[in-house]
Order: sequence, then structure tokens, then C-alpha cells
Amino acid sequence: MPEEPLALSAPKGTNDVLPPFSWEWQGLTRAALDTFALAGYAPIETPLFEHTEVFVRGAGAGSEVVTKQMYTFEDKGGRSLTLRPEGTAPVVRAVLEHNLARGALPVKVAYAGAMFRQERPQKGRYRQFFQVGVEALGIDSPVLDAEVVELGWRFIASMLPPEVVPTLLLNTIGHPGPECRARYIDELASFLRGRIDDLAPGDRERAATNPLRMFDSKEATTGAVMAAAPLVTDHVCDACRAHFDEVRALLDSVGVPYTVRPQLVRGLDYYTRTAFEYIWEGLGAQNTLGGGGRYDGLAESLGGDALPGIGFALGVDRILLAAGRDGSTAGTKVDVYVAVFGPEAAPTGLRIATDLRREGLGVDLDHGGRSLKGQMKDAVRSGARWVAILGEDELAAGSVALKDLTSGEQSSVPLDGLAATLRSGTMPAGAVLR
Ligand code: HAM
Repeated sequence: MPEEPLALSAPKGTNDVLPPFSWEWQGLTRAALDTFALAGYAPIETPLFEHTEVFVRGAGAGSEVVTKQMYTFEDKGGRSLTLRPEGTAPVVRAVLEHNLARGALPVKVAYAGAMFRQERPQKGRYRQFFQVGVEALGIDSPVLDAEVVELGWRFIASMLPPEVVPTLLLNTIGHPGPECRARYIDELASFLRGRIDDLAPGDRERAATNPLRMFDSKEATTGAVMAAAPLVTDHVCDACRAHFDEVRALLDSVGVPYTVRPQLVRGLDYYTRTAFEYIWEGLGAQNTLGGGGRYDGLAESLGGDALPGIGFALGVDRILLAAGRDGSTAGTKVDVYVAVFGPEAAPTGLRIATDLRREGLGVDLDHGGRSLKGQMKDAVRSGARWVAILGEDELAAGSVALKDLTSGEQSSVPLDGLAATLRSGTMPAGAVLR
């Protein structure tokens, strides 16, 4: 039987991150962790999968992420595990498990990694996607809310060209207590019962089980009903209102522009008080670049002691889309290309490349005995500024002919001065050939 040709492709909704785009992708991730580190956030890694219960109790049994989007499987030991659809519940699980909150508070951690949700794929929405985010635990001061919101805002803005102007949407959704959100949800549910026939048929069941989600419905008929619905922002308790007022004043004081959006409710059930999203309309349907909020009851939902927290996660894929980065302008890491001609020169070429790399320089070289013309082309492809050319004469003299591709200048440089010359960025004085 003839073998079938290989017809494998990446699973639907996943992407290979290929060069040169991968430079942008990795650059963004690094820049995020560096920016977050400057605000005191230490890196954390949690497993790519968790006990399913972490997300059921964390994101909420009724949330769309849990009911529809989780990649859940049973391992050979019969345990139910789930690929992480988000990073907050795993971080809180880890902080509780390792008792990280016993020391100075807040515990501040930052992460970057893949998340998994079985959503319908479209531009900006994937089944494996990447987030960078922070979580700060143990303090419920509005100062922390403002710090976190500003950090995400500043990082997003730093990644976007000036013509891409994101918007920060801000809201308070109160806390679950009877004098606050519980009372509001009763009021909203009763409003929706009165208008149930006006809602889109597909929304009617959910209106009863999770009335807040009606604010996120994409159905025009439901949208028309919700335009007249009572708003959570008008119904939160005095303490939650005071907290919100302070967060707003603090954001004003640090010059972060925001729009209060009373319909902003977020898709995960753990949120309390401050909720926010960074959006850019230019992305179309998937216009949320990132989002977050406070989750003061999450630790208790996971079985721990009370531990307030706030954080955000930003969509790496979406920020790069908004920034219009395709990798074509990505910087190279190669400083110098070693070109060799003649069979004698190849081993010396490898030795020069190795020595320069040991000195911390970026070096590429020819491996295949190509013509000098072919190697010069390859040098340009590598992005190197310099080409160190090694032929018979140079071999005999213990030097290279060093060419600066930006100026066209060429000069003979002894091998023992090569690293210093490259680092100085200027050709040595003396015989310069053009
Ligand atoms: P989230 O709003 O579910 O929040 O996701 C945060 C961001 O991840 C979104 O704004 C979006 O940019 C990106 N994202 C979500 N789903 C997809 C997808 N299917 N494809 C591409 N990008 C996507 C959270 O995950 C919370 N854990 C954020 C948080 C941290 N809250 C508090 N701390």
C-alpha cells in the first residue's frame, strides 16, 4: 500500500507562531514582564492544566467559560483535569496552596502563557491564545486598583502606534452581599421577567439563570431591552460606591483617561467591585485587548481564607493585531555574518563565529560552501550590519576583511581586534577599501 501523504495541520483555532512574527510576539511578552517587574510583580508559572474544580469554583459553574468552553479530560487515574482557560484562579490556587500571603502584602505576581477556550474561532479569537497578566493579592485598597489599572493601560499604550488609541472602560459591580449586588440582581431579574417576550428567544433561558449576562448579548432585540434595564453602578452599597469614587479620583490623579461603562459586567463570576476593560474599536467584533477586576471572594470560593485581589490579563494576539505588527520590521539579533571562501577557511570561520559568540555578539555564518555572492545575500537576509570575510589571504594574515553593509566601507581587521571593533561600531582608522 502506498503511504498516504502527510496531511496534518494544527488543530482548529490554534496558531503556529512563526518567524519573523515570532520576534514581535516574544518581544511583547518580554516587554510586558519587564514593565510589570518595574512595578514589583514577580514572575509566576502555574501548570497548563488544573483540577477542573479550580475553574468551576473560580470562574463560576454558570459562566460561559465553564459551561461551554473548557477543554476538560479525564487522565488515566480518573481525575478530571482542564486546560487552563484563564490564569487568575490558578494563581489564587497557587498562592493559597503555598501560603504566599503569610509575608508582606500584597503578593504581586505576573504571568505570560497560553490559555485554552473552545470558542468559535475568528479573527482575534482562538482556541489557544496567549495572555500576559498580573495579580495582586492581600490588599483591598483602591490605591492598588488604580495601580493595576494604570499598569495595564500604560503597557498597552506602549505597544500601540500613536494612531491606535485604546479606550479604558471602568465600572463597579459591587459585592455579592444582600445589600449590594444580590439586591440589584433581584431587581434586574424582575425587570427581565417583565420583558421576557421582548428578549431574543436564544437569550430567554439565560435571562433567568444569569441575568447580568444579558448586557453582553449580541442580539439587537435583547440590546434594546437592556438599554432600559436598571444598572448595577446605581445600585451598589455605600462602601462599594466609596471604593469606586476613590479609584476614579486616583486614576484622575495619575492622568489615566477612562469611560465609566455601567453595562460592563465581565464574563467570569469571581469579580467584585472594580471591573475594567481595555478596548480598541478598530479590531471589530473581538475588540477587547484586555480586561480585569477585583475578585475579593475568589480565595474563599477555592476553599481558602479571605484574600482580596485584583488583576488583569491582556490578549497578546489581539494587541499585536491592533499594533499591526507582522514581524516585517522586527529587529535582528545578528551583528555579524562570517563569510568564508576556500575549504581551508571553513573551520576557521566556525572558530571565529564561536569566539565572537562567546564575547556576547550575535553571529551567523555560511555552512554550505556557497559562492561569496550567495553568502553576501545571506548576510543581508540575516539582518547583520557587518560581514567578516575570510579567504586565503586573510587566513594567512590572521585577519578578516570586515565590510559594513550600511556604509559599504571595507577594511582589514586583525582577528584579535575583531570583537572590539564590532562592539565599537566603527571601522578602525587606516586602510579603508570601498
Ligand atoms: P478575560 O476577559 O476572559 O479575562 O480575558 C482577558 C483577555 O484575553 C481578553 O481581553 C482578550 O484580549 C484575551 N482573550 C480572551 N479569550 C480569547 C480568545 N479566545 N482568543 C484570543 N484572545 C482572547 C481573564 O482571563 C481574567 N483572568 C483576567 C483577570 C486577571 N482578571 C483578574 N485578573
